[in-house]
Amino acid sequence: MAMIAKQCPEIPVHVVDLNQARIDSWNSDNLPVYEPGLDAVVREARGRNLTFSTRVNDAIRDSNMIFIAVNTPTKTFGIGAGRAANLEFIEKCARQIAEVSEGHKIVVEKSTLPVRTAEAVKRILQSSSRGCSFDVLSNPEFLAEGTAIEDLLSPDRVLIGGESSAAVQRLADVYGRWIPRERILTTNLWSSELSKLTANAFLAQRVSSINAISALCEATGADVDEVARAIGTDSRIGPKFLRASVGFGGSCFQKDILNLVYLCEHFGLRDVAKYWEQVVVMNDYQKRRFSERIVKTMFNTVSDKKIAIWGFAFKKDTNDTRESPAIHVCRDLLNERAKLCIFDPRVPESQVRSELISAFADASGDVSLKDRSLVETNVTVARDSYSAAERAHAIAVLTEWDEFKQLDVQRIYDTMMQPAFVFDGRNILNRNRLTEIGFEVHSIGKH
Ligand code: UGA
Repeated sequence: MAMIAKQCPEIPVHVVDLNQARIDSWNSDNLPVYEPGLDAVVREARGRNLTFSTRVNDAIRDSNMIFIAVNTPTKTFGIGAGRAANLEFIEKCARQIAEVSEGHKIVVEKSTLPVRTAEAVKRILQSSSRGCSFDVLSNPEFLAEGTAIEDLLSPDRVLIGGESSAAVQRLADVYGRWIPRERILTTNLWSSELSKLTANAFLAQRVSSINAISALCEATGADVDEVARAIGTDSRIGPKFLRASVGFGGSCFQKDILNLVYLCEHFGLRDVAKYWEQVVVMNDYQKRRFSERIVKTMFNTVSDKKIAIWGFAFKKDTNDTRESPAIHVCRDLLNERAKLCIFDPRVPESQVRSELISAFADASGDVSLKDRSLVETNVTVARDSYSAAERAHAIAVLTEWDEFKQLDVQRIYDTMMQPAFVFDGRNILNRNRLTEIGFEVHSIGKH
């Protein structure tokens, strides 16, 4: 919304939320989301044609077009728990829009939704007794965190699905202010909804595919980066999303694939469901494999050993830790009684601790006192990479932050226990240089 406001100064954009604290921070100098370049975009438009407030009803009444951008987390209870999307917030929004709208409104689904949600949204809106009319559009977001501003400024494509061509055209006109027309694709509602889940499923599948091959590389002496380069130069395959890693994370990939799996099951397509589920199974395997490799390499015990964890966010240039592979690796290492010293340039200590405590929750969400105290006693959070590594037996790189590539590695080596192990879960460090100094380096997909 900030980008729309920036690019279309004559369109007033009201961002509303029920959460006062969140709105306050959008109105402050300390935005709740870290994203390179976002500050400048918000600063340019805020107060001109971009406002943040909790006056939801006023905003609905004043607007011609309403974007629903609430979260759709995986259901944790009832039918479809662990797979289906929880549409509670979408439904509540639709009901509120129906309740206070006057005249004609275009309602745009921005949240990632299972196919045919627009049908439900439409029915709820039509049940409004106020005599107003609605068009429902689907306009899924393809930006990735860390590169959001760039992705929004020049997206590969914008997708708009809808039944009314006049409504589709009005939204296309908004994006048309800065995005070439040929990159604005229009489809029917259901294709648009399904394209979003499919795009994420395909991307995650590539990461899981190269990660599966990384295990074979380690067993055979092939080098996964060389394999990725060799197949990535085939223009039919292409080089992107072939970086082997400790596993994919983030709020989208796993959630959207499980959602797709649930949809397939719903339509009786069991084999199709199993096929896509395997992408997530492979990702869990990759995270587990990484922590097992650490334990095995360090003489089958990490108990009471200090391990430096570099990076906790699910990828660089974001403070987002949702589904970060770091959480799983740290939990496994804590179960082995390792002492973890964690450093991430953007993730605060409180967030690290609450993610780790949640990682020990059982099916009903409870965490035992024993596990809670394990996190309390065995986890410290450092202020930089150097202090995290001091007197450590090993370093595990879990996020590909650029600053990890520029450290004085000799200085780090001198303060570590010997043998000094490095487990590079992102293949970003200079292996040869580290080996020369005396580190024992283990990377993903390398012998
Ligand atoms: C993803 C999609 O890329 C966006 O197009 C989509 O709009 C977004 O989800 C969404 O549904 O909102 P995002 O989750 O921000 O974006 O991040 P990605 O860059 O896709 O990375 C996801 C995970 O895969 C990260 O943990 C990343 O480290 C990992 N990854 C990515 C790899 O391990 N290797 C790669 O080669 C690429």
